[in-house]
Amino acid sequence: MLSSLRRKATQTVLRATSTQNVNNSPVWAWNEWDPLEEVIVGRAENAICPPLTHEVKANTYEYWWDYYNDNAGKPFGGVEHIKKAIAEMDEVCKILELEGVTVRRPEIIDWSKDVKTPHFEAQGLYAAMPRDILMTIGDDIIEAPMAWRSRFFEYQAYRPMIKDYFRRGANWTTVPKPHMSDELYDQNYPIKNVEDRHRLAEQGKFVTTEYEPCFDAADFIRAGKDVFAQRSQVTNYMGLEWMRRHLAKKGIKLHLVSFKDPNPMHIDATFNIIGEGLVLSNPDRPCKQVDLFKKAGWDIVKPPLPTIPDSHPLYMSSKWLSMNVLMIRPDAVLVERDEIPIQKMFESLGIKCIKASIRYANSLGGGFHCWTTDVRRKGELKSYFD
Ligand code: NVA
Repeated sequence: MLSSLRRKATQTVLRATSTQNVNNSPVWAWNEWDPLEEVIVGRAENAICPPLTHEVKANTYEYWWDYYNDNAGKPFGGVEHIKKAIAEMDEVCKILELEGVTVRRPEIIDWSKDVKTPHFEAQGLYAAMPRDILMTIGDDIIEAPMAWRSRFFEYQAYRPMIKDYFRRGANWTTVPKPHMSDELYDQNYPIKNVEDRHRLAEQGKFVTTEYEPCFDAADFIRAGKDVFAQRSQVTNYMGLEWMRRHLAKKGIKLHLVSFKDPNPMHIDATFNIIGEGLVLSNPDRPCKQVDLFKKAGWDIVKPPLPTIPDSHPLYMSSKWLSMNVLMIRPDAVLVERDEIPIQKMFESLGIKCIKASIRYANSLGGGFHCWTTDVRRKGELKSYFD
């Protein structure tokens, strides 16, 4: 049963010039569901298993720690696994193109090279998850500062295309890069004890400190004039405050939301907005501010349990990648071919399922939403809370 909000045929459209793409900016997207015109799809090429540093340990399951210790610096998941992930994502690109979407890919970079800054030495990770590093707000493409040392230089894979967007009229924001010195990570953060982590999460304390702003773009989710974000293991309050001020200049309100989750990292397998007044809310991680959405007439949909088998390696995520979907239009979603229960759920909502299988790509830590960043969607800036 859909709420009155979603049944409403018209919405308050803010008709100010700045909310329409009058300059034909190549970058233009205000929400997660308007018709998709251009998208960046990540690459598994040269993905490197990161070392088990404190910040990596805080975001991975204990049963993978030996894997990390044995494979740090080697191809993530092994060469054959990466080949399969590459093939899956090439297929996704073809499917998106058949849907009329322009697809761009990051540069292929050798992530195994040692890098050294005045504050740390590391190797890279990958350019698989553009959602983690790039966020489009209207005509502004925003490069997140990130929080893992292995991801410090990840932006380089996207720079040629961002420069191209900039030359063609887009705005381009780079958030101040953190030092990522030892002060950014709480070395005493309790890694093993989940009760301690729950308690600290209640207090807003995570493995990253407030030494300097840091965040991953995937901790934010957009709904026009309202953007939602969580304090997580990789996004600190200073990073959220930086974004709050940046978005306020565009007339957009940033809301801090939180979940019953001892290990938050990236909001889009927890609370994934998929339409006007419509959000997928992970039943294992209830949203503490759900009344805000209910009062505004939103539909809070609980997705069914994921079906990915225990035997399939997921080195950096839970199985809830099943709800980490990409909306192609308000009535069409890109969804995992083998996740039948969630496909049935989408069909019951009147949303057509465009299917692809990215199980090997999932192993690197993301579903369709993580593996993509929407660059341009047809539509205007609207409020979905009035
Ligand atoms: N860290 C979250 C989100 C992944 C996209 C999870 O594992 O469910």
